Amino acid sequence: METKRLTTADAAEAAEVIARGGLLGIPTETVYGLGANGLDPKAVRAIFTAKGRPQDNPLILHVPSAEWLERYCEDIPPAAYTLAERFWPGPLTMVLKCRRSGDGSQPFIIPGETTAGLDTVGMRCPDCAVTREVISLAGVPIAAPSGNTSGRPSPTTAPAMLEDMDGRIDAIVDAGPCSVGVESTIVDLTAGPPRLLRPGGVTLEQLEEVLGEVAVDDAVRRLMAPGEKPRAPGMKYRHYAPRAPVTVVKGDPDETAGYIAARMGEKSGVICFDEYRGCFRGHVVEAIGPTADQAAQARHIFEALRAFDHADVTDIWAQSPTDTGIGLAVTNRLNKAAGFHIISLEG
Ligand code: TXA
Ligand code: MG
Repeated sequence: METKRLTTADAAEAAEVIARGGLLGIPTETVYGLGANGLDPKAVRAIFTAKGRPQDNPLILHVPSAEWLERYCEDIPPAAYTLAERFWPGPLTMVLKCRRSGDGSQPFIIPGETTAGLDTVGMRCPDCAVTREVISLAGVPIAAPSGNTSGRPSPTTAPAMLEDMDGRIDAIVDAGPCSVGVESTIVDLTAGPPRLLRPGGVTLEQLEEVLGEVAVDDAVRRLMAPGEKPRAPGMKYRHYAPRAPVTVVKGDPDETAGYIAARMGEKSGVICFDEYRGCFRGHVVEAIGPTADQAAQARHIFEALRAFDHADVTDIWAQSPTDTGIGLAVTNRLNKAAGFHIISLEG
């Protein structure tokens, strides 16, 4: 199939793709998504095929406002509305209970293909006007995982998504580079206390301000052992990985730069902060932003990981960002890309 390139002026045409059961690349503030009608089992199955995604990994639903929550969810705690008020539209996905269908043909209003048979669903309202418009015009929630082939870094531009999906989807809406750059924060509100399943653009600190105590799922900070089950099924898979192996070095940036420079091989690549570019002359270097600019690091991390697949490198070293604020999301993605192969130079 030929993948049609659409712009932000083409919301109506994009909505038709969704309404007729097609696959649409959607821009969001976090990463580009691989969207389809989340209520149409056949369209949803096509997402899994195009992405090569394991069937046991549920999709999240994108809605244009918190008013749509009650259509698909039930027993919605007041905290969900407080969070929506504060952070929607924005990079926050809330896991809530699925609304029962009451018609006997299927247990919940959302088909099991979308939720991988769970009784909960992740709900997200993206901070991207054209995508909210497409959803409103189509009149159905859009199920969308990140628009990469399963296991690869998520795409933060339309060309990056087309690297993986050209010819596999009906159309893509190009709205330019994503402003956040890492996927949404996922918080499970069916758990007591609420549980952070994946760090993202809404920080743990911000969630705690609204919710009080927030538990952090183990899968956020360490590798799951074989057979261990994280609560966000997707967190168990090897992810975001470039083809060359990655080693993360944690500690004071002057020290990590020196450590890497002293050990790297002739064909090693490096992910570093802007100020340290000069330490790695003659190597393939991806600078992700100034040491102190965590938002820039979030915007650039996936493009940096993708870039090495077009370069001749045998291995990749990375200076670790700090893990406060949105840095928790950046270090989580980088550590996962490294299979949690981390060297710490800290005391
Ligand atoms: O920013 C984002 O969230 C992007 C954009 C496109 O919106 N989407 C995204 O989707 O990252 P995906 O499928 O790549 O990641 C969603 C994660 C997966 O790890 C999945 O296992 C988890 O959410 N998930 C989905 N439904 C869940 C549920 N009911 N309970 C727990 N985890 C769930
Ligand atoms: Mg993904």
